[in-house]
Amino acid sequence: MTDIARPARRTFMCASAALGSAALLTACGDGHSEADVPDAFPIPEPSGEGQTLMKAKDLPAGSRALAPAKDPSGEDVGVLLFRKDEETVLAYSNICTHQGCAVSPKSSKDDFYCACHGSRFAPADGTVTNGPAIAALPRYAAAIEGEDIVAYITASQ
Ligand code: FES
Repeated sequence: MTDIARPARRTFMCASAALGSAALLTACGDGHSEADVPDAFPIPEPSGEGQTLMKAKDLPAGSRALAPAKDPSGEDVGVLLFRKDEETVLAYSNICTHQGCAVSPKSSKDDFYCACHGSRFAPADGTVTNGPAIAALPRYAAAIEGEDIVAYITASQ
């Protein structure tokens, strides 16, 4: 028996990690990170009861905001909103994926910013644009329904 047909344990572990999580691939192959910027989370399907977070007219295209909401257990949560265009609004948890501080829509760089340690997140998909956070912001389903921006908060993120 030769070793050629057998994947090395390290190769298998890296492949398994790639299948199991796109968020944390490190030290595979030659030791370089395979994913310094993890993928965005998918937008979940709307489920449960939608919550009106604000009027659509108060969030012009290209702007960002933070809105209060309740999770299914009644706990307060903060929802980061980005109105991508006239028809599209995107929503994210405002809990920083680094150490849990509140991420703010107020930023000098047109992004979402965590003042605790300086992480930045892209409004278009929640991915990290500046660490130390390494995971993207979890997403919520959201939509413009009539005059309202409605989000579907599935659980505390
Ligand atoms: S908790 Fe947000 S950057 Fe550390």
